[in-house]
Amino acid sequence: MNYDIANPDLAPQGARRVEWAGRRMTVLGTVRERFVKEKPLKGHVVAACLHVTAETANLMLALRDGGAEPLLCASNPLSTQDDVAAALVAEGIPVFAIRGEDPETYYKHINAVLDHAPAVTMDDGADLATVLHTDRRDIEVIGSTEETTTGVIRLRAMAADGTLRVPVVAVNDSATKHLFDNHYGTGQSTLDGIIRASNILLAGLNVVVVGYGDCGRGVAKRADGMGSHVIVVEVDPIRALAAAMDGHRVLTASDAAEEGDVFITVTGNKHVLRAEHFEKMKDGVILANAGHFDIEIDLASLGADASERRNVRDNLDEYVLADGRRILVAAEGRLVNLGAAEGHPADVMDMSFSNQALAAEWLIANEGKLEPGIYTLPPEIDEHVAAIKLEALGGGLEKLTEEQASYLSGWQEGT
Ligand code: ADE
Repeated sequence: MNYDIANPDLAPQGARRVEWAGRRMTVLGTVRERFVKEKPLKGHVVAACLHVTAETANLMLALRDGGAEPLLCASNPLSTQDDVAAALVAEGIPVFAIRGEDPETYYKHINAVLDHAPAVTMDDGADLATVLHTDRRDIEVIGSTEETTTGVIRLRAMAADGTLRVPVVAVNDSATKHLFDNHYGTGQSTLDGIIRASNILLAGLNVVVVGYGDCGRGVAKRADGMGSHVIVVEVDPIRALAAAMDGHRVLTASDAAEEGDVFITVTGNKHVLRAEHFEKMKDGVILANAGHFDIEIDLASLGADASERRNVRDNLDEYVLADGRRILVAAEGRLVNLGAAEGHPADVMDMSFSNQALAAEWLIANEGKLEPGIYTLPPEIDEHVAAIKLEALGGGLEKLTEEQASYLSGWQEGT
């Protein structure tokens, strides 16, 4: 079997972590049980470009149970859990991913999974889809799936300029993905990453959250819960107003730069923290990014202004500026939750990855019927995923009485 990982000997440790994560992935477990019986993906190669984590490993196993031949490469050079990669290889699933790989190896690995002529591709950030639409136009796929907001934005841009040549399921747009993974997952795992990298006490600190989408809201809520004073920076007036009414101070980046102790970028945009902000920051501030790409903090300009850069702890680098101020950067400005911690907990990836597995099934079931474009999974699938998760949490779902159902579908009854 063809693969490229850091160390196959790490497999037993990885297998324990995969098993532990699997215990908390009840919806995916239900999908897997059905997949074992029905084999809806039978004979299809599925190439996934996702963060190589214990949760992703459970998705790979579910795809295999569904009859697919899954392959995996990394969607970020710093998020690979090498022990998990080894565990998957020991299971016979080819993995091409090494934590800390350079950009050349990263793209070599994407090409390696594409060399297996996949029928379905899965992305987290649309790097694989981009290669599929540039260097590897030789590969014909039934369809693709996309996990994250940034990837969906990129794919919509490809659709808008006529480049997109395949149907894509925007898994991110399922309610059981973005309302939970983005909010609760990013909220918890981002603080987890910052704490593991720095071991700081968040209580009493000014935490600046740049971006108040689903992810930013989650981060702000959790920082608030830890006793931080949350300041939000936002360009969208409606989101900014929501932040204000959620009880946060809303400032410009320039004003927030003077007050923050910890800065967390969650915008999906470029250089939201840059030289003009670094100039105003206090000594010892910590910068972390929870957006998909490592472009949100302008590290090139920070590096150019620094007289010295040194690693002070695992996943924490200190830049010393000419005036002696120190600015610390977690996980090299890459996704802090995956670079410095283990990503979102399995409990929430459960729903995201059930949607991924069901999206692969839906694409294969609709082979030849879908035009190139961006699709959202049918609402029944979303509701099914939510209902199973609720049941697993011990919740009970109320049902409409006949009288209520008829009231909601009528208009005659008023005051
Ligand atoms: N994205 C965020 N957290 C993740 C995780 N635990 N596994 C895979 N992708 C993720």
